[in-house]
Amino acid sequence: TAADYAPAVVIGSGYGAAVAALRLGEAGVRTLVLEMGRLWDTPGPDGKIFCSTGAPDQRSMWFRTRTEAPLATFLWLDVVNKDINSYPGVLDRVRYAEMSVFVGRGVGGGSLVNGGMAVTPPRPYFSEVLPQVDAAEMYGTYFPLARRMLGVNTVDPAWFESTEWYRFSRISRKHAQNAGLKTVFVPNVYDFGYMQREAAGQATRSALAGEVIYGNNHGKRSLDKTYLAAALGTGNVTIETMSRARGIRPEPGGGYVLTVERTDTAGRVVETKEIGCKQLFLGAGSIGSTELLLRAREKGTLPGLSTEVGKGWGHNGNVMTGRANHIWDTVGANQATMPTLGIDDWANPTNPVFAEIAPLPMGFEHWISLYLAITKNPERGSFSYDAATDSARLNWTRSQNQPSVKAAKSLFDRVNRANVTIYRYDLFGGNKTFADDFTYHPLGGCVLGRATDNYGRAKGYSGLYVTDGALVPGSIGVNPFVTITALAERNMTRILAEDPSG
Ligand code: FDA
Repeated sequence: TAADYAPAVVIGSGYGAAVAALRLGEAGVRTLVLEMGRLWDTPGPDGKIFCSTGAPDQRSMWFRTRTEAPLATFLWLDVVNKDINSYPGVLDRVRYAEMSVFVGRGVGGGSLVNGGMAVTPPRPYFSEVLPQVDAAEMYGTYFPLARRMLGVNTVDPAWFESTEWYRFSRISRKHAQNAGLKTVFVPNVYDFGYMQREAAGQATRSALAGEVIYGNNHGKRSLDKTYLAAALGTGNVTIETMSRARGIRPEPGGGYVLTVERTDTAGRVVETKEIGCKQLFLGAGSIGSTELLLRAREKGTLPGLSTEVGKGWGHNGNVMTGRANHIWDTVGANQATMPTLGIDDWANPTNPVFAEIAPLPMGFEHWISLYLAITKNPERGSFSYDAATDSARLNWTRSQNQPSVKAAKSLFDRVNRANVTIYRYDLFGGNKTFADDFTYHPLGGCVLGRATDNYGRAKGYSGLYVTDGALVPGSIGVNPFVTITALAERNMTRILAEDPSG
């Protein structure tokens, strides 16, 4: 029996976790949220909560002595990364053998570091990926609910057409159109009204000051300002930071006991404690939740978990690439960090691609058009437990990304041909034109309907739930957080209606 007890514990504080915490709190269930990162609410010596992308310091990355930004180089020079002090910074790059996964650390998870693109997947593809989920209910109820709760908004088209800050998007749109490709506006959780005031010099700049992957000081409706604020407002939810869940074992009379390590800002474990609960919700993200369940199964504390735990992982077909524009096609020294346009070629029967037109805000003209392509890659990875390091190992080879590179290449070869342009070779190291070794969109590992039932209840145990991106089977065709949020809303509605709570 554990010293500490909460009727419900939620591990993590990203999208799935935040939905669970709010809905439990509203239902009157006393809920403890455990987050391994820190709470980002206190300004540093420079008066800012987060550091900028251009001048990163210890706040940028999770226990590193040098930053590891996705774009390693510029003109083949290592000018992007900087030496920093080791500290629980907000962005982590989890390195597996042939794939790096970028994740957010802190209260709000990925919402602290992401590009805010709030995209609802095309309905036919949603139904292809999750056929057992009632799409009418998702598109009628839970997607609209998620968008409203997340504070999704769209850029004013007239402002978009005229502002220097989106010149880079308009150039890429023109080049896509020259190739006969369609572009679409993409909603975002960044407050575009605030952004217009930034541009007008009436508000402190954030998206217009290069802030994004190491956090936004203004304008971004991250989860700490939406779902988590509402969860705390119920009076039933508390959040413990710098607290990492490691072990899960069942309590003989029902419920679970967690082993939790509390660490200091030097990364030292200052306390190891046990916390009991009746219901346990895993919202530690695709790789975090999967590792927790895999470890529990393989170490024998939860031996009855499904053999599907650890399977069905994918990277949402992510590939990044850059094109070199002609000298007259300037992209502008001033670029907003929040993407607003995508090239939508998902209906392409052979090589479906949805490509975000990404900013590259370096503060000077560089003539680069950058893209994060989402492709339909049938390859899946799996996790195995490595006893020596007590962690999960991702079985994924670089070659499994070939279908993604092929699809992205087919689209951007077309754009290059139509505009007589070429790829950039200097951005990703090793003269590579396609970055095929990292992802922003880890999905799967505890797939809905396989490792869990159709609502995220872990098979084999009652009162144990998966509520995050681990449920999505490896691909969703667009940026994933709206789907993760909506699915969590759907599952929580059912769980709160049917399952006995603490
Ligand atoms: P998420 O990863 O958000 O949260 C998990 C939380 O659990 C983290 O806070 C972590 O610290 C914590 N945790 C993990 N293990 C733990 C443990 N053992 N104990 C305690 N806490 C633990 N998506 C999108 O839709 N639009 C976009 O524009 C972008 N852009 C983007 C840019 C960048 C740079 C990144 C890294 C990611 C994106 N994404 C994105 C992806 C999006 O952020 C991602 O899909 C979601 O954050 C995933 O939500 P989850 O709820 O699954 O977990």
